[in-house]
This record gives sequence, structure tokens and C-alpha cells, in this order.
Amino acid sequence: MNVYDSELIAIRLAATGYQQTPRLEKADLVILNTCTIRAKAEQKAFSFLGRLARLKKKKPGLIVGVGGCVAQQEGAEILKRVPHLDLVFGTQAIDRLPALISKIEAKRCRIVDVSMSENPDLVDAAPADPDHYAVSRFVTIMRGCDNFCTYCVVPYVRGRETSRDPDNIVKEIKFFVDSGVKEVTLLGQNVNSYGKKEGLLSFTELLARVQAIEGLLRIRFTTSHPKDFDQDLIDAFQENDKLCNHIHLPVQSGSNQVLKRMNRKYTKELYLDKVTKLRDTCPEIAITSDMIVGFPGESDADFDETLALMKKVEFDGLFAFMYSDRPNAPATRFKAKISESQKSERLQILLELQETYTKKKNVALIGSIQPIIAEGISKKQSSGSLDQPDQAVQWTGRTSTNKIVNFYHGDISGSSSNIFPGKMVQVKIDKAYAHSLWGKPVEIESTAEGLKGEKSYAA
Ligand code: 5AD
Ligand code: SF4
Repeated sequence: MNVYDSELIAIRLAATGYQQTPRLEKADLVILNTCTIRAKAEQKAFSFLGRLARLKKKKPGLIVGVGGCVAQQEGAEILKRVPHLDLVFGTQAIDRLPALISKIEAKRCRIVDVSMSENPDLVDAAPADPDHYAVSRFVTIMRGCDNFCTYCVVPYVRGRETSRDPDNIVKEIKFFVDSGVKEVTLLGQNVNSYGKKEGLLSFTELLARVQAIEGLLRIRFTTSHPKDFDQDLIDAFQENDKLCNHIHLPVQSGSNQVLKRMNRKYTKELYLDKVTKLRDTCPEIAITSDMIVGFPGESDADFDETLALMKKVEFDGLFAFMYSDRPNAPATRFKAKISESQKSERLQILLELQETYTKKKNVALIGSIQPIIAEGISKKQSSGSLDQPDQAVQWTGRTSTNKIVNFYHGDISGSSSNIFPGKMVQVKIDKAYAHSLWGKPVEIESTAEGLKGEKSYAA
């Protein structure tokens, strides 16, 4: 979500004449897009803002702005806390950014704009610099959230759930595809409830419309809420051949008591039942999840139930977090807080267990041929690697199941490479690491009998 919003910010600023620079000290304007979902993210934002004080001292004309969820949550308070800050703009003020910046340039005043907007389409992505679009893009389909999980700040900083108009979403994706984009990830806090409130299309109907876009090769989406994840979406995985074989289905805990106090509105049995149905229909599907350790009142027995659920599901990947109090979130007022050391101990145990499953799932792919979209090349030549052919370029891409695959191909000049960003390449996996795979590109050929054979690509 924040990557998409940062792109929107860059697009809006480019339209007013600002260009991006990789060197902070050269900048005339620095915008920090912030996240407040966990305490750590917020601390990082403030420490970066603190470091900008020195830069502003050297360059008094520098304009410093802070946007995103921290800005939405703290508003004018941040101006008090950060004296060298010029602008605080909220999650729904991105479209007003050019006007806000012009005002600061003209009047050298300090501005706070955290007002909400009713229109989720207000921040449609516009053509900025299509030459620099990546192969894969995020597209927000809905904003905000109505679920009010007790640990979560999102409904307070991003507002109520609102879905974007499907015609605008399709138009935006078509524009990206015309500019070379091959894969989109549809974003929302709870994509399963897309369009329900507004009486628009359902999420699976939207998927069908996106699937029909010519030239688009792959569709991903995130995030699904287990309570709303249903047979319709399971069927979509079977019917929609552009839909990638991966679902991110955050479970948060394996204990029913904890789930109840988190206000997640499902039990671990219901979650496991949905996973079983999904795997019965799509045996190859990769399932990833989010987990919180140390939620207030989480006992050793609760934590053991979380580990037991992980052993049952064997997730392909897991994002695990230590619980942190967030402003306005009801769990902040819950008693029986877990100590930092206990949270950290539990996190360690959980991560170690997950590591075995992540590795196991990767190892299972050795010998298989995976279609991947070549996303880009790393020009960095690793010197002296025995495995690296002379002058070969390191390419990267992802499997349909969202696992990173690296491979060597072509030469650094790019002249003899028949692989380019956006090309679908068949890669035979020969090595599996904890968080990535290595392979060799192969060509799939039809033989006289109509069977498919493989041969190595000419590098
Ligand atoms: N503490 C720890 N983790 C949190 N998350 C959300 N709020 C908190 C919090 N207060 C995690 C959840 C969510 C992910 C995006 O961040 O696991 O799915
Ligand atoms: Fe937060 Fe729950 Fe909404 Fe996800 S579903 S954004 S965790 S309130």
C-alpha cells in the first residue's frame, strides 16, 4: 500500500517539475511516506526525520514533508516535535500535494492537511514516466478498513473501507499494460469484501474483468481476510489462468481465545478448514501468513497452539511480529501485557520453526521447471564465482507461487540476450536457499509426438 502511495506522490511531484534524485544531500524537497502499523516503523520514521535537521541547517531552503499513516495519526503534533518540518499531509491528501508544496514555496509557511476524502478514486495513478514503469505494478482497489481488529491502527489512520470504481481500476491497469507492465498486484486491506458496501462488482467479478485485459500475464492480490475468504475465490484460482498460485491469508494466532480478543471473527478450526478446501482444489498453491506473538494475555498454552497451527498448515512463508501497542487500538488498554523479552523469545522460536517449512517448500521445487517473468537484471558482476558463466548477467523474477528465482543469462552488453524484462521464461530450478531459488533458463519445445521437451537456452 505504501509503495503504491509513494509512487502516487512521485507522480504528483513530477507533474509539478520535481525530479527524483538518488542523493539526499542534493534534494530541494524531501518527502517521507510513513507507516504506523507497528511501533518500530514509527520509531524509524522519527529517527530519519531527526537526521534531516542537519541537512536543513546546511540548506535552509530545503522543504521537508511527512505523509502517510504517522502524519494522519499525529497531525500538527509532529510540527511541534520536529521543528525543521514544513509539511504534514495525511493518507488522503496526496492529490492536494502539488498545491500544498506551491504554497510553502511561495509563503515559506508550515502546513498540516490531514482531512479525509470520500472519494477513493481521488488518487488515480496518472501517466508520469511510462518508460520507467517496472514489469510488475501495485494497483490499489480499495482503501481503509472496517474490521477493527483490536491491535490495529489502520481503521483509525486510513478511514472506513471504500472500494474504487471497477472501470477506473481496469482503465488504470490497461494503461500500465500498454506501457509494458506484465503483472499487477491488486491491493486492499480485505479484498474479499471489495465492492460489497457500494454494491459494485464482487472481487471475483473484478478479477474476471482484469483477467480479460489483453497483454497482462499475471494477477496477484493481497490481503485476504480469512473470515471472508470463500469458495468463490477458491473457484477463481481454478478458473482464472492469470491468477497466480499464491494467497496471503493472515491468521495472526492459532489460539481461539486470542483470536476472539483480537476480534478476528474466525476460529482456528474455520481457518484450517478453509486451508484444506483451498488445497483440495489447488494442491500447488503457496500459502503465506502474518502472525503476532505476545498479544496481551497470550499464555504459553496459547503460543503452543500457534506453533501447532503452523505445524498443521506448513506455510510457504510467514511474516511474524511482536505485538506493539498502537494509538486508539483497543488492545492498548488490555491488561496482562507480555514482556519484551518473552515476546522476543517467542518470536525466535516461531521464526526457527518457520525456517524449516520455508526451506522445505523451496527444496521441493528442485528439478522442476517454473515459469517466471524476468523482472530485471543485476548489473553487478559477481567476480570469480565458479557457477557464473563468463560475463553472464544475473536475472531475477518470481514463480507463480511468489518465490524469488535468480539465474544467469546473456552478457553484460545485453546484445546476445534473448531474455528481456517482462519476458516469460521457463527456469529449471537447481538450488534452493532459505529465501530464494537458483535455476537455469530452458526452452520448452514440442516434439514430433506433441510432447514437451526441454533444452538449455543459448546464452
Ligand atoms: N503489533 C504487532 N503487529 C501488528 N500488525 C498489525 N498491528 C500490529 C500491532 N499492533 C501486523 C499484523 C498485520 C500486519 C500487516 O502487521 O500481523 O497482518
Ligand atoms: Fe487491521 Fe484487521 Fe483491518 Fe487488517 S483487517 S487492516 S489487521 S483492522
